[in-house]
Amino acid sequence: MQNLLDLIHERHSARMPYDSRRPVPQPALDQIAEAASWAPTAHNMQNFDILAVDDPNALQAIGAIETRTSPVFLRENARQLSASPEALRKRGTGVIASMFPPAWRDPDADFEAIAAAEPVVPLSHSLQGAPCLLLVLYDADKRAPASEGDVLGFISLGCVMQNMWLAAQSLGLGLQILSVFSSDTVEAAMRRMLGFPAHLKIAYACRLGYPVEPHDYVRVRRPRDAFVHHNRYGR
Ligand SMILES: Cc1cc2nc3c(=O)[nH]c(=O)nc-3n(C[C@H](O)[C@H](O)[C@H](O)COP(=O)(O)O)c2cc1C
Repeated sequence: MQNLLDLIHERHSARMPYDSRRPVPQPALDQIAEAASWAPTAHNMQNFDILAVDDPNALQAIGAIETRTSPVFLRENARQLSASPEALRKRGTGVIASMFPPAWRDPDADFEAIAAAEPVVPLSHSLQGAPCLLLVLYDADKRAPASEGDVLGFISLGCVMQNMWLAAQSLGLGLQILSVFSSDTVEAAMRRMLGFPAHLKIAYACRLGYPVEPHDYVRVRRPRDAFVHHNRYGR
């Protein structure tokens, strides 16, 4: 149990650059895929495929795809930010504001205007040298029974994420989830490039590789008594 808890604590979003000259070994990819395959999924639907991309030419082409900043992302992101490590520790949820440009941090800002003024950014900024990208593809043809909006299907994809992330952590690999890959425009470009069929949607992408520096940001969680209730809510 202690080993498992240590691994759970150590798993983190590895947002630093990765060594582009150090590929992820095939046995490591196999183990991560094995961990994914044993994730619990609603009705054991296994409603996902994994598309691993480690061909440098393909990664370069993906890196050239251009993205725009979404005002919805900016607005909702600003609500999760804390100005200082102390404020973040006190709040116990969200992320530190310094991860984002100053203009993105004011929750009352005009985010339509800010987004419109942001430059178009290539995905290479998100990939940061990653030698491998795992696309987790949601199979929309597989629906969890009696689950409105297939919410149980989406929960299942989260279980897949956690299994892969813990496996990567235990192998000494950095992993960062990149939600930007599930935007309509990026998905369309990736579909053209990589040839996955229409019923498969990008749920999320994971950049994977060996970090070139240790992570040094503050990670927080709520204290257990802020969310665990005993026998009756509020106790
Ligand atoms: C569904 C989902 C989407 C996420 N999208 C991103 C993302 O696009 N970029 C990113 O850096 N982290 C992303 N994250 C990571 C979270 O921000 C991170 O897990 C959280 O801040 C806690 O930090 P930790 O992973 O270091 O414990 C995502 C996590 C989940 C579960």
